[in-house]
Amino acid sequence: MPNFDPIPTGVHLTPLDARFREDPYPVLAELRERDPIHYDKVFKQFIFTRHDDVMAILRHSEMWSDPRKATPGTFSAEILGAGDDEPSMLLMDDPDHRRLRDLIKRSFTPRAVGRWRERARAVAERVIHGIEENEFDLMEKVAGPIPTVVIAEMLGIDPEMHERFKQWSDASVRGAFSPIQDPVDLAAAEEAQAELDAFFRGEIERRRRDTSDDLIGDLVAAEADGDRLSEDEIVSTCNLLLLAGNLTTTDLIGNGVKAFLDHPAELAKLRARPELLSNAVEEVLRYDSPVVNSGRIAHEDMEIGGVKIARGESLGVRLGAANRDPAVYPDPDRFDIEREDTHHQSFGGGRHFCLGAHLARLEAQETLSVLFARFSEMRASERGHVYAANPSFRGFEEFWVRADR
Ligand code: HEM
Repeated sequence: MPNFDPIPTGVHLTPLDARFREDPYPVLAELRERDPIHYDKVFKQFIFTRHDDVMAILRHSEMWSDPRKATPGTFSAEILGAGDDEPSMLLMDDPDHRRLRDLIKRSFTPRAVGRWRERARAVAERVIHGIEENEFDLMEKVAGPIPTVVIAEMLGIDPEMHERFKQWSDASVRGAFSPIQDPVDLAAAEEAQAELDAFFRGEIERRRRDTSDDLIGDLVAAEADGDRLSEDEIVSTCNLLLLAGNLTTTDLIGNGVKAFLDHPAELAKLRARPELLSNAVEEVLRYDSPVVNSGRIAHEDMEIGGVKIARGESLGVRLGAANRDPAVYPDPDRFDIEREDTHHQSFGGGRHFCLGAHLARLEAQETLSVLFARFSEMRASERGHVYAANPSFRGFEEFWVRADR
């Protein structure tokens, strides 16, 4: 185990740092061993890396998520609370959070999402069977397009608009998550966002006139205890679904293919025993989580693992560190699709547990299944890969592969 002296902190604990970006796990293991409840003086946040601490924080029923409640100067207040926008559902507390989640959640139950499996497979087949090259960037050709087309279909967007929709959503994601706030990117993102919002308003208007069996139709019709979503809430929910669902699922597919190409014996096993697919996707989520961190805010003075924490402090959890804690997982750095206990923290937990978890799983399962069936041989190409320098996500900007039919 390398000893990084001094203890890594600040930017060195994010994908903005080149070493962390390429392989965060030795850095996180070091932190978990030497300082499992670490106070990061740069970002003003407690950082938790042990599985049990991370799980307890995420599942805590009282802790806050709304950055406006955090102590000024802390990571939650300054970074998450920046901007004047109303916080998205991810950063809301009850009763507002529960109200919104209750209105939306029925569209995301395993049953509701299960209806999309065949469509997701058809999208994966169309995209993957359309690849003509033997060497290609997996992110551009496969992992990027599939989740955007699936969510566009779920929302009920006219296929003729899909290309335009993808351009808007790509531009808006680039603006929202870009660590380097390039003015040209930001301006393009704002313009794309304005067009996307106007487009969603038109779609909502259409659903008010004629009901339709799609996600925007569901949101328009959603009603719980006599309550309804306002137009602004539907627009912001559609945007959240785009942002929360596209990048993350794209990265899950990219990280999954990388894990299999790095472990050919596991790929051979999956090819021989397709019934392992669902466990394999859970193992990918555990082994290389697309979302790097989440967090909460201390709702009262408290003590965790002997460390005193004041009300309003920002509590950051490192999901990938929890997922490889040797106290919980035997041989945690091994990628093993037959692992018995593949539970993980990659979808967060408690009241904010990822609403799209079933959808993400289903898309990744169908994509990996179609991809490995289509290409009898696959390996990483000499053109290599580039990880994205994005503070919250772990995934590729580019990942070149060679594939034979
Ligand atoms: C591999 C893919 C995905 C990963 C790893 C992921 C991960 C996460 C995480 C870590 C959270 C925060 C949980 C917490 O703090 O406890 C979250 C929340 C959320 N995710 Fe996902 N997500 C993925 C895909 C999706 C998809 C496909 C959608 C929808 C289309 C989605 C919608 C949401 C929403 C709406 C929330 C906020 C829930 C709330 O605040 O109540 N996610 N996700």
